[in-house]
Amino acid sequence: MTKQIHLAAHFPGVNNTTVWSDPASGSQIDFDSFRHLAQTAERGKFDFFFLAEGLRLREAKGRIHDLDVVGRPESLTVLSALAAVTTHLGLAATVNSTFNEPYEVARRLATLDHLSGGRAAWNVVTSFDAFTGENFRRGGFLAEADRYTRAKEFLQTARELWDSWASDAVAADPESGRFLRPGGVTSFRHQGRHFDISGLFNVPRGPQGHPVIIQAGDSDEGREFAASSADVIFSRHSKLEEGRAFYRDVKRRLAAYGRRPEELKILPAVTYVLGDTEAEAAERAAEIRRAQVSPQTAIYFLEAVWGRDLSGYDPDGPLPDVEPNLDEGVSKGHAAFRRDRGELVAKWRALAEEKNLSIRELAIEVSAPQTFIGTPRSVADEIDHFVQTDAADGFIFVPHLTPGGLDDLVDKVVPLLQEKGVFRTDYTGPTLRDHLGLAPRTPNRTEETS
Ligand SMILES: Cc1cc2nc3c(=O)[nH]c(=O)nc-3n(C[C@H](O)[C@H](O)[C@H](O)COP(=O)(O)O)c2cc1C
Repeated sequence: MTKQIHLAAHFPGVNNTTVWSDPASGSQIDFDSFRHLAQTAERGKFDFFFLAEGLRLREAKGRIHDLDVVGRPESLTVLSALAAVTTHLGLAATVNSTFNEPYEVARRLATLDHLSGGRAAWNVVTSFDAFTGENFRRGGFLAEADRYTRAKEFLQTARELWDSWASDAVAADPESGRFLRPGGVTSFRHQGRHFDISGLFNVPRGPQGHPVIIQAGDSDEGREFAASSADVIFSRHSKLEEGRAFYRDVKRRLAAYGRRPEELKILPAVTYVLGDTEAEAAERAAEIRRAQVSPQTAIYFLEAVWGRDLSGYDPDGPLPDVEPNLDEGVSKGHAAFRRDRGELVAKWRALAEEKNLSIRELAIEVSAPQTFIGTPRSVADEIDHFVQTDAADGFIFVPHLTPGGLDDLVDKVVPLLQEKGVFRTDYTGPTLRDHLGLAPRTPNRTEETS
């Protein structure tokens, strides 16, 4: 059976993958930037708009790393404003479960679900480092594995709070003089390892029952968490074979939780570059990569992995002759390189030797590789092929320009997907759960680990 594709838009802000020096690049913080990208995604009938979160500015060699994510406002506040200027687009917020409390996060998400008429989603992230924790006076609070235990209990607790209101709890009945239906709101009591709370929740049940739950972790614990509890995975497996292996692995985990494969959508983060011909697209893609990876960025990129100051090395010269310092990190706040740095360096040395790559050329080759490059037609065909051959259920597009980076995708590629009959020509329901083909969440479904 032909699968329908799901599409989402990531707001890029300033990032190591954006080109903020491009004259077409706008503010990462003005509301107009958020509005432009969200309204473009809605014009393209996308499922949702996604905001990432990082809770501390990244640093390199003890200084702010201003070539990377800088100046990012709080997701739920931005999405609440976007709810007023969009009508169907899902609104996905990344919110950390290590440094927040379930009661306040559950309130904010239920509120967004009401304000938007059932379009809220929550990307549950844990973060991993003491560096971020210092911002909260918590430092290295919780070992990494315990962060997932907490995330799972956090989500379970939030679900209990949402479920403490029946969907018909508000009676507003002048005859009986009652505003709430008797029994419509029940008190909650959650006693667990991480949370011990009781009381009465004060936001009525949202239109979706529960917001859509997104998960982005990649470890075994992350995958189990997604299989047990998430509706969507934001994955980094955007190559065909790798994507298929990830898809198989995660989908097979669902049965242990009594779930069907279609109850969890897998959406890799992807990029795209269009041209009138394949050659033009390839040329443009190469230009974008050179703009993304400046000589300075290339050195920073390697320093994050080497754990050393490499400023004395020529970006256009060969890889550093020193070995990485595996005990030390000079970059803080980066997740990508925290595992197996020794192995990674050995792999990169072999690649640089095989292809005769300089530091900058290697950084261009291995950091944030581009996914879809071609004419609108070939990109539409490739997107469809990925989905129909089970490497994904759709994609989260990460443009390289804020805020106009999705304009040509929506104008030129989406109509071809619609023509093929694999992407909606209009929304068929008002909620994000409708767009994703997910049932509304009814109370009292348990998610205990098997
Ligand atoms: C595609 C992708 C996007 C992510 N986005 C965020 C984010 O915006 N904020 C955040 O704190 N962590 C983000 N993460 C990190 C994960 O949520 C998770 O905390 C991290 O990958 C560690 O989990 P793991 O050990 O299971 O991989 C992202 C991860 C992936 C793969």
